[in-house]
Amino acid sequence: MAEPVILVTGATGYIAAHTCVCLLERGCKVIGIDNLSNSSPRVIERIQQITRRSIDFHRIDIRNQTALTAVLKHYRIDAVIHFAGLKAVGESVSEPLKYFDNNVCGTVTLLRLLQQYGIRKLVFSSSATVYGEPAAVPVGEAAPTSATNPYGRSKLMVEQMLQDIVRADNSWRIATLRYFNPVGAHDSGLIGEDPRDIPNNLMPYIAQVAIGRRPYLQLFGDDYPTEDGSGVRDYIHVMDLARGHLAALDRLSAHDGSFTVNLGTGRGVSVLQAVAAFERVSGKVIPVQRTARRAGDVATCYASVHRASELLGWHAEHDLEKMCADHWRWQCNNPEGY
Ligand code: NAD
Ligand code: UD1
Repeated sequence: MAEPVILVTGATGYIAAHTCVCLLERGCKVIGIDNLSNSSPRVIERIQQITRRSIDFHRIDIRNQTALTAVLKHYRIDAVIHFAGLKAVGESVSEPLKYFDNNVCGTVTLLRLLQQYGIRKLVFSSSATVYGEPAAVPVGEAAPTSATNPYGRSKLMVEQMLQDIVRADNSWRIATLRYFNPVGAHDSGLIGEDPRDIPNNLMPYIAQVAIGRRPYLQLFGDDYPTEDGSGVRDYIHVMDLARGHLAALDRLSAHDGSFTVNLGTGRGVSVLQAVAAFERVSGKVIPVQRTARRAGDVATCYASVHRASELLGWHAEHDLEKMCADHWRWQCNNPEGY
C-alpha cells in the first residue's frame, strides 16, 4: 500500500514538529508548510536528524491561495493536520484583527481549497481555552463553550465553522482536538518550544529561570480556591499530544463521521507543584515572586479523558517528572533556542 501523504500546516511550530516526527516514524510522507512567523527553518533539519527521513517543506502562508493551490495540485494528499495559527492571548487582545485574519480567514482559505481538491480528512488544533471558566472539572467535551479573548474566539469560530461544514456535507471527516497544556520536548533534546519573546506560558518561563535567562518566576495569584492557592492545569507531554494526532488520523481513516476530543492527562497540577517538580529534575532553585492574578486566568482546568480513551484508544503516558526532564534537556542543549 502507498504511504499516506499528510499535509501539515504550521509544520515548524512546537507541537507540529513533534507530530511530524511521529508521522515520519510511522512511515507517512509529510508535506510541511509554514510562513515561519513564529518558528525557525532549522526545525526541519532537526526533524530529519531525529527520524533520518526527509520532509517536503514549503514556506507558505495559508492565506496565500495561489501558493497553497500549487501544493495541493502537486501532491496526492490524504489528510491535513492544521496547526498553523497565532496563539498569544495578550497580543490577540491588542490586535484582534490580526488573529481573526490569520486564524479564521486563513482556515477559510485552506478549507475552501481542500474542498475544491477533494481532500476531506482534517485534524484541527483547538484548545481547552474554548471552555472559558469551566463550571466543573474534569471538563468534558459536552461542557458549554465560551471565549474570554480574541484568540479563544478565533478557535471557537473555527470549531463552529467546521461543525457547519460537516452538517452541509457529511463526506468530511474532521477531528477537532482540544489540547490542554502542552509542555516538554522530544527526548533527543533536538526539538522543543522556542518562544520568540518573553514566554507567556508557565513551563518555558520556569525553564528560562532555571537556565539563568530570567531572575525569577512571577506567580500569578496565590489565592485561588485550590489546594495551595496557585492555579491548577492539565500539563501534557508534547510527545503524548503528538501521538494523539496519529490516533485521531487512524480513527478518521477507519470510521465515517467527525468528532471533538480533549487531549489531556486528566490530572490537575498546581503552579507550585510544577515549580517543585522542575526544581527536583533540574537541581536548580526557581525563585518565585508572588504577584496578582493574571487577567483572564481560571483557577482550575483539567480534562475529562474518557472520550479520548473510548474513541481513539489513546491516553497520555508521560508523567510530570518526564515532562520537566525533557523540557530541561531541550533548554540546556539550546539555551538560546534554535
Ligand atoms: P507555534 O506558534 O509554535 O506553531 C504555530 C506555527 O504556525 C508556527 O510555526 C507559525 O509560524 C505558523 N503559522 C502561523 N500563522 C501561519 C500562517 N498564516 N500560515 C502559515 N503558517 C503559519 O504554536 P504551537 O504551540 O505549536 O501551536 C500549534 C497550534 O495549536 C496552534 O493553532 C495553537 O493555537 C494550538 N494550541 C496550542 C496550545 C499551546 O499551549 N501551545 C494549546 C492549545 C492549542
Ligand atoms: C494560557 C492561555 C490559553 C492557552 C494556554 C495554552 C491565557 C490567559 N491563557 O492558558 O488561552 O490556551 O495558555 O497555550 O494566557 N503562570 C504563572 N506565571 C507565569 C506563567 C503562568 O504563575 O509566568 C500560571 C498561570 O497563572 C496559570 C498556570 O501558570 O495558573 C499556567 O499558565 P499558562 O502556561 O499560561 O497556561 P494557561 O493559563 O492554561
